[in-house]
Amino acid sequence: MDIQWYPGHMSKAMRIMREDLKLIDVIIELTDARVPQSSRNPDINSLANSKSRIIVLNKVDLADEAITSQWRKYYEGEGLFVKEVNSKAGKNVKSIVDVINQACAEKIERNKKRGIINRPLRAMIVGIPNVGKSTFINALVGRTSAKTGNKPGVTKGKQWIKLNKNIELMDTPGVLWPKFDDEQIGLNLSFVGSIRDEILNTYELSVKLVDFLMENYESYMIEKYKLADVKDSYDVLLQIAKFRGCKSKGDEYDTEKSAIILIDDFRKGKIGRISLEKPEDFYGKQ
Ligand code: G4P
Repeated sequence: MDIQWYPGHMSKAMRIMREDLKLIDVIIELTDARVPQSSRNPDINSLANSKSRIIVLNKVDLADEAITSQWRKYYEGEGLFVKEVNSKAGKNVKSIVDVINQACAEKIERNKKRGIINRPLRAMIVGIPNVGKSTFINALVGRTSAKTGNKPGVTKGKQWIKLNKNIELMDTPGVLWPKFDDEQIGLNLSFVGSIRDEILNTYELSVKLVDFLMENYESYMIEKYKLADVKDSYDVLLQIAKFRGCKSKGDEYDTEKSAIILIDDFRKGKIGRISLEKPEDFYGKQ
């Protein structure tokens, strides 16, 4: 796969995050519920080591409910705390406060035993670009303080947002770069729009997406684009071009245009609630 990485940039970001994490009791790891595993950065395991961890499955409104529930069970089985949220609609976001308290129960108990009673818990939100960190923080604290411009790492001069008298949140979220050595992970991140420098051009990407959707969500595709007697992926794009009236200057049906429409419809959840990966794809049948 032809992707450019910036190792210097990344290691600096990791160094800053490692420093910031020293101040933190609990890490809230935001993932995209359509690609929960691909949207996690494996480096967080070493960065987080002994911290309490919460996995937030964000954008659940776009993901397949049954599969989201499989992911929740899988991660819970791994001993992680899990919350399903729709940050855009602010749904379930505030209840993260209860999960933070649960995740830090041992810490609270330990502090009590040592006579430390008024020390607030400190939380940090981390995630790869576009996973919804700013939207989540804004829904949680009700103001627009979380814009990072997707710069990796966290700014100096730490600011804390008081969620309540017991919990403080680091003002800026930690941006982790996506990471993958597996082509499918790269593709999944491209489908959801988390990798801007696309690993394939839009047309090739949409052909791969058509293949996945016809295999896993065929009925949604037929319903959405009124497909009939599909021959192959190209034919799907051609039928979408006809259905949506995508024509080139020479009055030919234009599958480059319908390719863009398909990806856009998918990203906005207009084809239906779709998940691109299941726990069994990574860990075998549970
Ligand atoms: P980031 O800070 O992690 O980079 O992500 P950010 O909050 O900017 O969110 C990235 C995109 O994901 C935004 O869409 C945002 O609205 C959308 N988003 C975040 N959470 C959810 C969710 O739970 N459900 C859905 N459906 N979308 C979510 P955008 O198209 O870039 O902006 P906008 O058009 O929504 O303003």
